[in-house]
Amino acid sequence: MDLGLKNRVAIVGGGSKGLGRACADSLAQEGAKLVICSRNAQELDQAAEEISAAAGVEVLAVPADLSKLEDIQTLVKRTVDHFGRLDILVNNSGGPPAGRATDTTEEVWYQSVDMALMFFIRMSREAVPHMKNGGWGRIVNVLASSVYQPIENLVTSGVTRMGAVAFAKSLADEVGRDDILVNNVAPGYLLTDRMMHIFEVRSEDTGANVEDLLQAHSATIPVGRLGRPEELGDLVTFLASEKNSYTTGATILVDGGVVRSVM
Ligand SMILES: NC(=O)c1ccc[n+]([C@@H]2O[C@H](COP(=O)([O-])OP(=O)(O)OC[C@H]3O[C@@H](n4cnc5c(N)ncnc54)[C@H](OP(=O)(O)O)[C@@H]3O)[C@@H](O)[C@H]2O)c1
Repeated sequence: MDLGLKNRVAIVGGGSKGLGRACADSLAQEGAKLVICSRNAQELDQAAEEISAAAGVEVLAVPADLSKLEDIQTLVKRTVDHFGRLDILVNNSGGPPAGRATDTTEEVWYQSVDMALMFFIRMSREAVPHMKNGGWGRIVNVLASSVYQPIENLVTSGVTRMGAVAFAKSLADEVGRDDILVNNVAPGYLLTDRMMHIFEVRSEDTGANVEDLLQAHSATIPVGRLGRPEELGDLVTFLASEKNSYTTGATILVDGGVVRSVM
């Protein structure tokens, strides 16, 4: 299947590792030119080199903190200055800090809103005018399964990302006639650095070893294992492509069946 991504220009947030890196690899394999972004400039440069060498496409590394408006504005400006266009946004970044409903502080709430709600709003607001200029656009937001069911000690994720779902649906209404489609993906448990860190912390807390914890957790997932980042990356690439021409405003789980709701 030709996804029609050759020479399209995409920004991939959090592109140096984990889910963002998997999205970047997958888009690059389909011929898209990329701008990848994360805070650690050294890791980002290395990722850009590796992606470019593997796929033979141009990859520009722009270090930025995606929880800050000025950094987002600079990222979009540098993309358009360099490539002359912007077609695709993969809105992915670090997750919000842990927190419980009863004791999360004001400071952590505001930090979470910047990281996991305003991030999606700001990226879209800055990018959509360029997509309209090009007469085409695709936006894919990487959220979490917390939009379907709470994750313990992550009230910050559910609350902010439910806002992102509502925002994406309204945005999809507003830009559909410009051939700009907006969708969300909701990962369950995919094995990235962040996910590994969660299991390491659990291991320290409980004294159980990490392998045993991973195995016990796999047993709770209908497909019997944690996911691989590329299993999300390939879906994102499809949603970001010309072959996706009629799905917009949707939220798609990538969770091996872990969420228990019927709808
Ligand atoms: N893995 C899963 O199964 C899973 C499940 C549910 C939700 N999610 C969500 O999916 C997103 C990606 O998760 P992941 O597992 O891929 O995490 P990861 O392995 O820790 O990778 C996160 C990436 O985002 C970058 N990043 C973090 N904070 C940033 C910021 N403020 N500005 C710019 N870049 C930033 C990191 O680089 P720097 O640190 O250098 O900035 C890195 O490139 C997170 O929002 C996470 O909550 C993941």
